[in-house]
Amino acid sequence: MKQFTSAEMEERAEAILLRMTLEEKAAQMVQVPVAYVTREEALLWARRGAGSFLHVLGDDAREIQQEALQTRLGIPVLFGIDAIHGHGLNQKATIFPSQLAAACSWDPSLVEEMGRVTAREVAADGLHWTFSPVLCLGRDTRWGRVNETFGEDPYLAGELGYAIVRGYQGDDPADGEHILACAKHYIGYGEAVGGRDSCDTEMTYRKLREVFLPPFARAVEAGVATVMTAYGSIDGTPFTASEKSLRTILKEELGFDGFVVTDWDNVRSLVEKQHVATDLDEASLLAARAGNDMMMTTTAFYESAIRLVKNGKLDERVLDEAVRNILRVKIRFGLFERAEQRGEQEKLGCAEHLASALRLARESVTLLKNDGVLPLGNSVRRVAVIGPNADDIRAQYGDWTYFTHPHPKPKYTAARPYVTLLEGILTLAKERDVDVSYARGCGVMHEECDDLDAAVNAAKNADVILLAIGDVVQQAGEYRDRADLSLSGRQEELFLRLRELGKPIVTVFISTKPLCICRVAEESAALIVAFNGGMFGGQAVAEAVFGALNPAGKLPISFPRHSGQIPVYYNNLPGWHGEKYVDLPETPLFAFGEGMGYSRFAYSDLQADAENLHVSVSMTNLGIRAGSETVQVYLRDLVSSVLTPVKRLVAFQKIALQPGETRRIAFELTRKDFSIVLPDEQTVVEPGDFLVFVGGSSKDEDLISTKISLRE
Ligand code: GLC
Repeated sequence: MKQFTSAEMEERAEAILLRMTLEEKAAQMVQVPVAYVTREEALLWARRGAGSFLHVLGDDAREIQQEALQTRLGIPVLFGIDAIHGHGLNQKATIFPSQLAAACSWDPSLVEEMGRVTAREVAADGLHWTFSPVLCLGRDTRWGRVNETFGEDPYLAGELGYAIVRGYQGDDPADGEHILACAKHYIGYGEAVGGRDSCDTEMTYRKLREVFLPPFARAVEAGVATVMTAYGSIDGTPFTASEKSLRTILKEELGFDGFVVTDWDNVRSLVEKQHVATDLDEASLLAARAGNDMMMTTTAFYESAIRLVKNGKLDERVLDEAVRNILRVKIRFGLFERAEQRGEQEKLGCAEHLASALRLARESVTLLKNDGVLPLGNSVRRVAVIGPNADDIRAQYGDWTYFTHPHPKPKYTAARPYVTLLEGILTLAKERDVDVSYARGCGVMHEECDDLDAAVNAAKNADVILLAIGDVVQQAGEYRDRADLSLSGRQEELFLRLRELGKPIVTVFISTKPLCICRVAEESAALIVAFNGGMFGGQAVAEAVFGALNPAGKLPISFPRHSGQIPVYYNNLPGWHGEKYVDLPETPLFAFGEGMGYSRFAYSDLQADAENLHVSVSMTNLGIRAGSETVQVYLRDLVSSVLTPVKRLVAFQKIALQPGETRRIAFELTRKDFSIVLPDEQTVVEPGDFLVFVGGSSKDEDLISTKISLRE
């Protein structure tokens, strides 16, 4: 594929733009929801020159593209889809762990591979663009979409976001194996008051720059082609209407040179939900002026934009700039040369891709507690697998797959291959001559057919009980926030009934996000967190249970003890009088960065050099098994002009060590790692003393520290 210089791309875009009519420019800024229009309407939009269509699979995209290529200027259409953890809306595709589960791996190379495989399958399907990654932060677990984030920390989300954008786009997104990525939802979408999806975020621009902007800055550094505007608002100004967020910060300061697409019908929301515009003309004016280049599903923008320009209310140059951004991305992506290209359909779900999903599922398994019951020893001859999520692939997949999402062609039965926990256990147990009994016991949400007695009966002769609990997709996703994060239905009752048998219970948490599982966690012999592990999540957990896998996952998000404790993220600001509630400890149930394996690691001899900002530490595997651990580096600014977090992640490395092995691990920090954002929104580095923490989690007891004095 010919590589165009940026000058050639600019010239080419300009040459097309100069020939476009006002109507063609307005149409190019519209993204049409194929699932919501008839076939004739879709073809009409193609003839008008609509810039993009979404939620259509390759077979149905072709005729729309052919219609578009017949238009006067033949500008090809961009097809976008939510390939959020694999090309999951296509039943043939490889389904990876969710972003939150993938983040437990703390492995940018595996997350990049998830992006690369997803891109190959989306491109093979004849589509061009995924609305991924989500770079919002999961800081309020009441919010329905925490599962789509890389967790609560800006640095971890930024590193994994950078990786997956590189995976999606590659060095040359026009090579037929890569696709356009979309950093979303810009910005601070998960910070809505009360965890209420799309509500106002009471944050300041200082907080926006300090906490929420870094992951998007990393995505821009990775060359992300598009950014999606969030539904919500910042202190009363909808992001869709926020020129400061979109033009000043994203396009001018960060130098983002792709195009901005709104989220679903954001323009209409300015009228109907946020009530900052009286009609669609006014809303369209606000959205275009603020810097939105493409309007997702608000097809009425077409007539409004034409009317606004003709009435002199909107300068046509605003449309020119938006269309130029869109054309530049289409040219860079090689769309004019390969508009109808499709790859081999056999790539979808091929063995190489499935192996990639299994690798990531294995690295995501997170062991949070183990009294020694795991890995199961040879004395264990009978295992009872109990619980609603032990054999429910829909719960295991979580959101954004072909059978949890209405578009484009929902299917209501899961396609093989996949491995649930029960299936994984049955396979490995058979190899070890271990008997397995199974009972569902109850639903995740209350069901008439709950049968706790059957579950107790199935477990009464077992040596060990595996209990799979969590949530289901009806309790998470867009429009599905939860005020009460305790285990729903009779899950806790089921646990207590099983506890009466006096046998060790290994709880396996298969859930979209953290829930308040204090009692279960305290009384389980072991606790494994899998979140939504994708096609092979059940196999990966089963391998950890039997010791075929030495788990190395670390939490990318804190587990609250109670909904009332939220927000409970680790990088909080100091100053709390009393440091705790009168009725709860101040610590989360499980902390950011926490996770253990079947090895034990120790850290010693921490060095930090104030001149070159190098940090080094010795790490030893004290266990009898080879294993990996993610070494984390945190900073605390001891005195600063604004409050700064009690600690903040600035670096990490996943290290594999043989039993007894000691290795020197080095980190190279930069002055930017020490920076803070002042009330006037300037980012500065203030000289002074900092504490450097290094260890296996964000908990003080897992860290060693040393002081470093930064001079001018
Ligand atoms: C949805 C989501 C967004 C998604 C888009 C297209 O409402 O907010 O994440 O990419 O619309 O499906």
